Amino acid sequence: MSEPWTIARVARWATDDFCARGLDSPRLEAEVLLAHALGVPRINLFLELERPLSADELARYRALITRRRAREPVAYLIGEREFYGRSFRVDARVLVPRPDTEALVDVALRRTASRALYGRALDVCTGSGCVAVTIARERPTWRVTATELSADALDVARDNAHRLGAHTLALLEGDLFAPVAGRRFELVTANPPYIPDTEIDTLDADVRDFEPRLALSGGADGFQVTRRVIAEAGEVLAPRGVLALEIMAGTSAEVTERLRAARFEDVEVTRDHTGLERVVSGVWPG
Ligand SMILES: C[S@@+](CC[C@H](N)C(=O)[O-])C[C@H]1O[C@@H](n2cnc3c(N)ncnc32)[C@H](O)[C@@H]1O
Repeated sequence: MSEPWTIARVARWATDDFCARGLDSPRLEAEVLLAHALGVPRINLFLELERPLSADELARYRALITRRRAREPVAYLIGEREFYGRSFRVDARVLVPRPDTEALVDVALRRTASRALYGRALDVCTGSGCVAVTIARERPTWRVTATELSADALDVARDNAHRLGAHTLALLEGDLFAPVAGRRFELVTANPPYIPDTEIDTLDADVRDFEPRLALSGGADGFQVTRRVIAEAGEVLAPRGVLALEIMAGTSAEVTERLRAARFEDVEVTRDHTGLERVVSGVWPG
């Protein structure tokens, strides 16, 4: 009789397979997908390493492995990704939240700390809602609004806001600031699409072939949406309000210049957890 496919054996097999295919974190991914196929937390795998998988469990794991081999992001396969300590639902309708973007939240909270008790925040290009939901949860007394062009993405954000208890968050469909015309905010955050169109084909297949093009494409030079956010933010910022923008690494000088040219003051560049310049922020004169 052939050796049974136990948890330990199947995880080892998948790890070797992912490793041979050049995936970045083969063991972690093999374990995360196995835990998902079995419907248990990852830690449980280690409690029953010698348990054989049932035929159904094996079939579910095989299906996940096949999709991962085709480079579908793990977050889409398991339907979630952690951001700022909370688990967000994600699928192919939204960009997978990145740890880099936690720097955007850090800057937004730090630069508005003196108004922690009351304020109005706006997150444009909200996607999964990871930034807006986090700000709403970290600043429970603020009124938080978010806008998004894609109705499909907005459905995901709505689900996240509901599940994660961001009850003060208002989610509006539309182009950048159009849904909030005439209103004022002490804080505006944005992680706009910023990849130049010419670079999209050079991205990892995980990103290029699976994440929404609308979430990636920043037009010919990458600044198409960023340029508009900087030019239009002043129309909704309260005096001394803060604009915090995520940028593509390597573009901080250009974005800083654009903010200054648009009359922003106290412009700062902040690095993400990997040391790359990731956030540019400034204060609207008042
Ligand atoms: C880079 S993703 C960021 C998503 C999320 N904020 C995050 O940090 O993970 C950019 C998002 O902006 C949306 N978007 C693109 N153009 C837009 C526009 N003109 N107005 C509003 N949202 C837009 C895309 O659909 C996408 O969800």
